[in-house]
Amino acid sequence: MADLAAGAGRDGLQPRFPRFSAHFRWGTATSAYQIEGAVTEGGRGRSVWDTFAATPGKTARGETGEIACDHYRRYHEDIALMADLGVSDYRFSLAWPRIQPVGAGPANPAGLDFYDRLVDALLNAGITPVATLYHWDTPQAVEDAGGWMSRDTAHRFADYATLAAEALSDRIRWWITLNEPVIVTLLGYGLGTHAPGRNLMLGALPTAHHQLLGHGLATQALRAAGAEHVGIANNHMPVWADSQHSEDVAAAAAFADLYNWLFADPLLTGAYPDLRWLDRGLPEQAAVDLPTIAQPLDFYGLNYYSPARIRAAAPGSELPFELVEITGYPRTASKWPVVPAGLRETLVGLTERYRDALPPILITENGCSTADPATAEGTIDDQDRIDFLHAHVAALCGAMDEGVDVRGYFIWSLLDNFEWAEGYGQRFGLVHVDFETQRRTPKASYHWLRRQLAGTA
Ligand code: FCB
Repeated sequence: MADLAAGAGRDGLQPRFPRFSAHFRWGTATSAYQIEGAVTEGGRGRSVWDTFAATPGKTARGETGEIACDHYRRYHEDIALMADLGVSDYRFSLAWPRIQPVGAGPANPAGLDFYDRLVDALLNAGITPVATLYHWDTPQAVEDAGGWMSRDTAHRFADYATLAAEALSDRIRWWITLNEPVIVTLLGYGLGTHAPGRNLMLGALPTAHHQLLGHGLATQALRAAGAEHVGIANNHMPVWADSQHSEDVAAAAAFADLYNWLFADPLLTGAYPDLRWLDRGLPEQAAVDLPTIAQPLDFYGLNYYSPARIRAAAPGSELPFELVEITGYPRTASKWPVVPAGLRETLVGLTERYRDALPPILITENGCSTADPATAEGTIDDQDRIDFLHAHVAALCGAMDEGVDVRGYFIWSLLDNFEWAEGYGQRFGLVHVDFETQRRTPKASYHWLRRQLAGTA
């Protein structure tokens, strides 16, 4: 299907997209805490990210999402930007603490009202809403009761899913339960570099199981409340062994089990990968929950940014692997290696591993941070983002040519926003945001993408 030969190449000519089916979904992605601001408006409760960001030393320059992009008040402007860009879809997240301020009890009408208005405005603009239920902003009260270390949180999450879908599934047809549970487990509870900032190392593994159980229960709840398309957004990294020595190969396999397959196998095969190398593992009753976790999915969301290179750890280390820096590739502003072939490798790898059990794939996130040089004319020349997106769309076409069923591609992100522990220091947007004035300025990549989308349908 891909006709890249006609499109690639720079030298004065900007790269162009190949032709895609008119049904292919093109979107931008954001999340609530990263853009909304207005953290005390409309009865919103406190989330773990409010607490974490307010704790000295946790985020760069002590920055928080208190104001962020002020999207809560400026959503009309942001929707107009998307309509002009020409995307068919918008992936955003609902803030659990807006809908259930303490993570239990009835829905907060003012919180739901914001999403009502947002969804109506999207539909009026001809844009399909794709809602994520959980993009990391656990209500603080739920965390205080144990957070994802507690099995009860899975049930709380399913109750919240019911409230959200009962109110919104008449207009939101596409639902994502969790965003990147692996990051919540590893960074939120394992290393403590993300909220809630726990440092449990391998003791964090129950949070993987409880999130997956929450996903299964929420999937059932969403369907019961009328949701049409239900999926999850998992982050995957192709894992490269640093050498062919058996120790490095085994270490890479162990890392892949932890990072990729722990969060995908239970969903798609109903079983956990072999995690015998872990001394503290999953909760004892994990096996009983597997049928609930393995609910049929309508799509599988993939967030792809970069691969991991792994070697065996020194004897006596707590973990059997070590990350090795990937050299020989360009890097984004956040220093992540730019490896478009890794997207193809991931897509083909998922298809080979799961075969008929794999539903159609949506790329629910892909993008990069750039330094965004401003020109004398006031435009923002993010050529690196154009090259990044073009190369990744080409890799995606390559995978589709190999038979991978990809139905959509969502760019992270519409706007520069609060990049978690990095604060406002990393800019992932197609649209530049001046955080002093809240002025939005579409970057060169936005104008380029607009031309591609006009030409691809
Ligand atoms: C992903 C997150 C998203 C954003 C991008 C850069 O891991 O899902 O919120 O921070 O990384």
